[in-house]
Amino acid sequence: MSRVTLLDIFQHPAAQKYVKRSGLAHAVSCAFHAYRFAIEKGADPDSACKAAFLHDMGHYTWYRNGEWDYDLYKQNDIHAIKGAERAHKLLIRLGEDPVKAKEISLAVLLHTDSFLPQKNISREALQEVVAMADELDEEPGGLHHYRRMTDEKAAGLLKQLDERIESFYHNPQTAAYC
Ligand SMILES: [Fe+2]
Ligand SMILES: [Fe+2]
Repeated sequence: MSRVTLLDIFQHPAAQKYVKRSGLAHAVSCAFHAYRFAIEKGADPDSACKAAFLHDMGHYTWYRNGEWDYDLYKQNDIHAIKGAERAHKLLIRLGEDPVKAKEISLAVLLHTDSFLPQKNISREALQEVVAMADELDEEPGGLHHYRRMTDEKAAGLLKQLDERIESFYHNPQTAAYC
């Protein structure tokens, strides 16, 4: 079975709609951070990059009178839950291995604890890698969601990352750092 690439994911209409809604530049940066952290922590780089790229695809826009309403967001947000479901559906549609699709979906679910009543999640390596990648790219006031990136630039960067992932599987000893 051939690998579902990051580029395949990016080009799917669901990613085009939902990944862009929460910030394409943030998604691409997180995927690059996740590759590096995955190599360091011994997690699967392919799953880590996919989960990091898709981690915020569950966002809804909480606007009131044309302005972002942070209170409304805090009160109602379930983006990790929604994102886990959307990521899973998208990956299965693209032909991803179901075991891997579940693993990626769980990492999306646990990338934040903001929706949980208790803030002490114990994460496995892959889940930790995705949470770390997200945290590293965060900017105060949620500005990371508004950084811009063209489709051409994103496609080029994701293609580079796909090549790094594929060369890692061919020879893990010479994993290229980003
Ligand atoms: Fe998030
Ligand atoms: Fe994020």
